[in-house]
Amino acid sequence: MNAVEIEEAISELAERPFNADVFPYAFLEAFGNKETTLKRLRSGASNKSDLGGVLQTNNIHIAVCPAGEVAKTLAALKASPATTRGKARFVLATDGITFEAEDLQLDDPPVVCDYADFPDHFGFFLPLSGITTVKQVRESSFDIRATSRLNRLYVELLKDNPDWGTAKRRPDMNHFMARLIFCFFAEDTDIFFGDSLFTATIEQMSAKDSSNTHAVIGEIFRAMNAKVTDRGIAKLPRWAEGFPYVNGGLFSGRTDVPRFSRIARSYLLHIGNLDWKKINPDIFGSMIQAVADDDERGALGMHYTSVPNILKVLNPLFLDELRTQLEEVGDNARMLLNLRKRMSKIRVFDPACGSGNFLVIAYKEMRAIEAEINRRRDEADQRSEIPLTNFRGIELRDFPAEIARLALIIAEYQCDVTYRGQKEALRDFLPLDAQNWITCGNALRLDWLSICPPTGTGVKHHADDLFHTPLNQAQIDFENEGGETYICGNPPYRGSQWQTEEQKSDLHSIFDGRTKSWKSLDYVAGWFMKAADYGTKTISAAALVSTNSICQGRQVDTLWSLIFSTGHEISFAHSSFKWANLASHNAGVTVVIVGISNQPSKSRLLFSEANDASTTVKAVDNINAYLVPGPNVIVKQCSRPLNALQEMSFGNMPNDGGHLLLDVTEAAVAVRDHAVPENFVRPFFGSQEFIRGIERRCIWVGDNEYQAANENIWLRDRFDAVRAQRSASDRATTNALAATPYRFGEVRQLGIESSIVVPKVTSEGRPYLPVGVLSPHSIVSDNAFALYDAPLWNMALIASRLHLVWIATVCGKLETRYRYSNTLGWNTFPVPPLTEKNKADLTRCAEDILLAREGHFPATIADLYDPDTMPDNLRAAHERNDEVLERIYIGRRFKNDTERLEKLFELYTKMTAAIAPAKAGAAKKKKAEALA
Ligand SMILES: C[S@@+](CC[C@H](N)C(=O)[O-])C[C@H]1O[C@@H](n2cnc3c(N)ncnc32)[C@H](O)[C@@H]1O
Repeated sequence: MNAVEIEEAISELAERPFNADVFPYAFLEAFGNKETTLKRLRSGASNKSDLGGVLQTNNIHIAVCPAGEVAKTLAALKASPATTRGKARFVLATDGITFEAEDLQLDDPPVVCDYADFPDHFGFFLPLSGITTVKQVRESSFDIRATSRLNRLYVELLKDNPDWGTAKRRPDMNHFMARLIFCFFAEDTDIFFGDSLFTATIEQMSAKDSSNTHAVIGEIFRAMNAKVTDRGIAKLPRWAEGFPYVNGGLFSGRTDVPRFSRIARSYLLHIGNLDWKKINPDIFGSMIQAVADDDERGALGMHYTSVPNILKVLNPLFLDELRTQLEEVGDNARMLLNLRKRMSKIRVFDPACGSGNFLVIAYKEMRAIEAEINRRRDEADQRSEIPLTNFRGIELRDFPAEIARLALIIAEYQCDVTYRGQKEALRDFLPLDAQNWITCGNALRLDWLSICPPTGTGVKHHADDLFHTPLNQAQIDFENEGGETYICGNPPYRGSQWQTEEQKSDLHSIFDGRTKSWKSLDYVAGWFMKAADYGTKTISAAALVSTNSICQGRQVDTLWSLIFSTGHEISFAHSSFKWANLASHNAGVTVVIVGISNQPSKSRLLFSEANDASTTVKAVDNINAYLVPGPNVIVKQCSRPLNALQEMSFGNMPNDGGHLLLDVTEAAVAVRDHAVPENFVRPFFGSQEFIRGIERRCIWVGDNEYQAANENIWLRDRFDAVRAQRSASDRATTNALAATPYRFGEVRQLGIESSIVVPKVTSEGRPYLPVGVLSPHSIVSDNAFALYDAPLWNMALIASRLHLVWIATVCGKLETRYRYSNTLGWNTFPVPPLTEKNKADLTRCAEDILLAREGHFPATIADLYDPDTMPDNLRAAHERNDEVLERIYIGRRFKNDTERLEKLFELYTKMTAAIAPAKAGAAKKKKAEALA
């Protein structure tokens, strides 16, 4: 269950008549306990309470008591030996009138409230449900409650008005919700005159049977669209006259309202009774947008982006620099004024803005800086010079786009109240500004220069925009001559295999003519390219959140060569970290943040997050496309090792229609019952066989053994089947193989004594790449790579942390798994010259790893390298291997992976620089010889 669902469940519980017998179980159920768990508690099997209550071990001790004895019962629960024995974190007592609870682990104040109000404290109990982001949830508890209530209303209204759920009318429905949200906010913040004007008017004027609720709301909306001067013509009912003129596009046009059932009406009144002053426009917007999205509704906004994560983008992009400038100018009034002027021209542009959370946070942070300037200049109630219209966005879906604008309007009002006072805030608030600055459309098809033009000469929007303003809308005069633009956001990532045809075509429209490999790019790459293009025409910088795949593997060459060719460099970056959200048991997606600029400062900041979520920051001269400090190198595929290591090949490809491959039973039967000579049957290893210990066999017959093998009828049948299959192929090369049906299609292992096997893909959870040595007899399939007859110290290289980070960075991933490549990863792996002593030491390390594994026979590689259960002695053997290898590189252990990569890229740059002149020399010599 996510936080919204829990809030809904406990609110429903509090609304039901109190039942002492049922309450403890219903409470636990609301926090996601399954029926089987509750059954065991009810039967007493797992209930360890010594006070006649319900004690769920490791969680909570609940007791229901007679009226007036709540405090006494809570004290008894705290003192109870069973509470201690059962390691209960919470104690809870209630008589159905009052409610008290305490968290015995934290110092938080206890909850003491009326029974009916306990849902207000749902955040307090969230650890019961396995939600780890409790702090965030508590801070957003109003937004969660409001989302959950609006969701109930939305679903109920669609039930009663199915036509409003159709594609045609959905925008009307969403627009209606945006209007409601505005009204709830306005009535609680004195924007509407009087207390709860909107909710109270509906309650009084609409019939209890809900038959005219829609008409009453329609009249109120009509009032908000009627200027004071037009009020006479509008002929409003007297009770609607009290509503001010709001319009701002939000209340223009049709005032249609869906019909309300009794339930919907009561939901509406309920929502009105929430305290909307507490709304966080950044958080609420992200949550509420899920309500209108049938696919997202299940998660109900729990995928929203936290404020600290948004600041990871905005602070280094431009906010930190503004704050530094503020610090530097001190109390110098003229310089403070200059800074304020500069800020008034800054545009923040999020071209995938959703409900505007990046824009809202940027706005709020800038207002805080401006308020400090005004304070130092003694102009505290000065009207803000930061125009809301400087916070531009593009959003594909209509509801989030509406909410984005509303969220900004609310943020502006809240900032005005905070920095200038309620009176000033109210004076300037209504009517709302009718200008549009959030465009609803496809950001990859729109001309960003038209949405966010670099100068004051406005350019028309080239798309449908918000609140249905026609395309030929009046141009907005953007007073922005010489202003800076900062592009930010977290656009959709979408790996190439998950893109829709339309999304592919979006990328095609951007990358066609620039690169042939655009099909392998993630969708987010389109935003980076457009930001770089935009930067060539404007004073701007950009920072976007992205999946780390655009900075790994093959995408690096495709995308970053193009970005760098526009004159942009990486101005700051956050290396991979988890982008957590509020979903319960949420692991989050691994992302990076990349800032680009064509005027980057000399020193670039590289942020990296440690396992304990602490962030370190390093100032470096350059950040390359792999987000590693160092020159802008791009690692390219190489057909031969650059590092003087032995060549790594594919295994052997059967091309046999499966007739040369056997499972172990088949192989045993063939030997036992069909007299197949054992030496023709070999163990066969691909990636899965090696990692999971799956036993397979193959028929392996040399050219000089064919005649003997063919005398065995069972084998001959197999050879016939292979011949038939190869002959039937429509490829001439396969047809030719029909002449040697006893042999694999591609044989790479003739006369080989031993093989070091490396799987092609491996789970990213494993702390090391799986690599091993096969017995001389074994055959490697083409589903794995192999080093044939290679000295064992090669295995030590592959099993190292250094090699893993290199492979993860330069080879990239297949979905979430590491993808090994000989040409991209092995042939390019920088290795310093190894002495005989180094090789002997590494050989010993590899032997130790193999010995440690053997001690756990028959555990498979998958078992042994499970990060949670990896045996200590195997881990120690790998640690020793890393120690020995890393000392060869730098004389000590590396501090972290960033340092490892930094060194590897430094060596790679030297290695390729040394090879380039040699190659050029050889080419020159060849040319001279040809001419001679
Ligand atoms: C990952 S969300 C980020 C939104 C917001 N910043 C947040 O944290 O909730 C990406 C947003 O991009 C929008 N989007 C997807 N494709 C788009 C496109 N081609 N043009 C504009 N917006 C798009 C989605 O509708 C979604 O709201």
